[in-house]
Amino acid sequence: MSDRIAPAPGGAGGLAAGRARLTREALAAWGEAAGRALAGTGRVVLLSGDLGAGKTTLAQAIVRGLGVVEPVTSPTFTLVHEYDAPLGRVRHLDLYRLHRPTDLDALGWDELVAGDAVTLVEWPERAAGRWPAGAWHLTLAAPPDDPGARDLDLEVLP
Ligand SMILES: Nc1ncnc2c1ncn2[C@@H]1O[C@H](COP(=O)(O)OP(=O)(O)OP(=O)(O)O)[C@@H](O)[C@H]1O
Ligand SMILES: [Mg+2]
Repeated sequence: MSDRIAPAPGGAGGLAAGRARLTREALAAWGEAAGRALAGTGRVVLLSGDLGAGKTTLAQAIVRGLGVVEPVTSPTFTLVHEYDAPLGRVRHLDLYRLHRPTDLDALGWDELVAGDAVTLVEWPERAAGRWPAGAWHLTLAAPPDDPGARDLDLEVLP
């Protein structure tokens, strides 16, 4: 794994797997570039991290990268937000309130991850064991010494 996440040939849709420490602005710019790279791929993007780590902030940037200009809100209460973005359909899920595997089935998880929309998933741990091959797993963490920064890790699931 390289030590920074930057546009690069190969890797995940032109974004190299790795880790970077990013300001809020840099995270937004990275997410917008990622959104452009994800256009038309139908890829699943799993967003891990503690409360307030920046999962929604990053999901919103990815959705903007796909060309959505309307305000992007957190899907916490609706579980799934869907956008017919200029660069392709995108879904934003927040599984925080899911507690049983049957809830995942009621949501239509298998169909959502197999669909051709780019699918962004907050709290993917609620779907542990059901992550699709090829998904991007992004993990955000707040470094203890810098409240304005976040460490972002990208792993492409085998
Ligand atoms: N470098 C950074 N990148 C992203 N967010 C940052 C950064 N620095 C500070 N923040 C702040 O951290 C907060 C992240 O909130 P956000 O809702 O995106 O987190 P979340 O991981 O989705 O939380 P939740 O688990 O509650 O859904 C925002 O208030 C944002 O302004
Ligand atoms: Mg959130």
